[in-house]
Amino acid sequence: MLELNRNNLSPFVAAEEYEVLHPRLVAAHQSLLQKSGAGNNYLGWRDLLGSSASALLEELESTAAEIRERADVLVCIGIGGSYLGAQAVIAALTPHLTRPEGSPEILFAGHHLSGSYHQELLRYLEGKSVYVNVISKSGTTLEPAIAFRLLRNWMHDTFEDADRRIIVTTDPDRGKLNELRDVHGYRRYVIPADVGGRFSVLTPVGLLPIAAAGVDIRALFRGAVEMCDLLVTNEDNVALEYAAARYLLHEKGYSVDALAVLEPRLYGIARWWQQLFGESEGKNHRGLFPVMVQYTTDLHSIGQYMQDGQRRVIETFLMERQVSDTLVVPEVDGPPDGLEYLTGQRLSAVNQKAYEGTARAHLNGGVPNMTITIDSLEAVSIGRLIYFFEHAVAVGGYLLGVNPFDQPGVEDYKAEMYKLLGRS
Ligand code: PA5
Repeated sequence: MLELNRNNLSPFVAAEEYEVLHPRLVAAHQSLLQKSGAGNNYLGWRDLLGSSASALLEELESTAAEIRERADVLVCIGIGGSYLGAQAVIAALTPHLTRPEGSPEILFAGHHLSGSYHQELLRYLEGKSVYVNVISKSGTTLEPAIAFRLLRNWMHDTFEDADRRIIVTTDPDRGKLNELRDVHGYRRYVIPADVGGRFSVLTPVGLLPIAAAGVDIRALFRGAVEMCDLLVTNEDNVALEYAAARYLLHEKGYSVDALAVLEPRLYGIARWWQQLFGESEGKNHRGLFPVMVQYTTDLHSIGQYMQDGQRRVIETFLMERQVSDTLVVPEVDGPPDGLEYLTGQRLSAVNQKAYEGTARAHLNGGVPNMTITIDSLEAVSIGRLIYFFEHAVAVGGYLLGVNPFDQPGVEDYKAEMYKLLGRS
């Protein structure tokens, strides 16, 4: 199961502070469970775990099987919550550099406005068998809407059966994607109205691309259900401990929360976490600014700041208990290269020491840090982690006194951009 180690917080947060907070923490947890808190009409991400999802999972698996059989490439169009979850889970659960036999290449589009990227993408797709999954709850977000117009034209010009190859994931009733789907007869999956984008990875938003990549979505889903069951039946649980630590440090004036990952396959999960916590908590001039850091890479760039810059940063390491690789530092002939003391050691053991050394150094440098450890990079563990973070951010938002389920600030840049683009 998932573990949280808060030992390196002890110089910064006293045991009594957790005790004093406990009644408020439990109240926040209960607001979530009893649907009595702010944004309680956006708790569908919890409800869907309690319902039998079997029919939906089966249907998604069948569509994914068709994509896997017929497509060289699946292009997923979406941004924010309609992109990051799928990208994260696929990266975590598929190989770094190769594609498993029978899996299409999964590419993303509409997650930025780069003309050169989309131009290159259209060229790259030439001559390949392509499916497109356009994902937008509102159906009006500019980035995916432009990408979809480009891809839609290309698909209809290229494939006689384009209508079958385009799959729409959107709101049950509203939005332009529903209108386009009515005209063309595209297949459609629904994002439940009561699930916000950043909480939607376990709906068709995430599950269809993830299944198309060959990941076991039943195990992923089962992991989330397991974690949910664990958290709702116990008021002293890891998600509440995590939320409490972050909140107490926030109240002490810490303003930045770095999620540190030492395994590249977890970078996407950290980016997804960044959105989940940033959009959920950063309101009313409150909330820790969430930032992902990739170690040991970033120790050679912002490591100096972490060790010795402004003391406003807290840090959480995200680690895995069981690593599957067996690669060791090899013996070499010839002149010594200075690595003799490491010969025969597994790279994963070296990485583990890098984590332990970094956590210790940052603690000594005045950075409160804690560690989340998941069992392994397997679907069930990632499912548990997803629900753990979702539950923790909801409780964290309630502790801060904000609605964790809206994102009013995201609209402001859009309004200014649309003015400049001349939208009436
Ligand atoms: O979490 C959110 O609600 C946002 O990040 C949205 O997912 C993002 O803005 C994309 O919105 P939509 O799915 O409506 O295109």
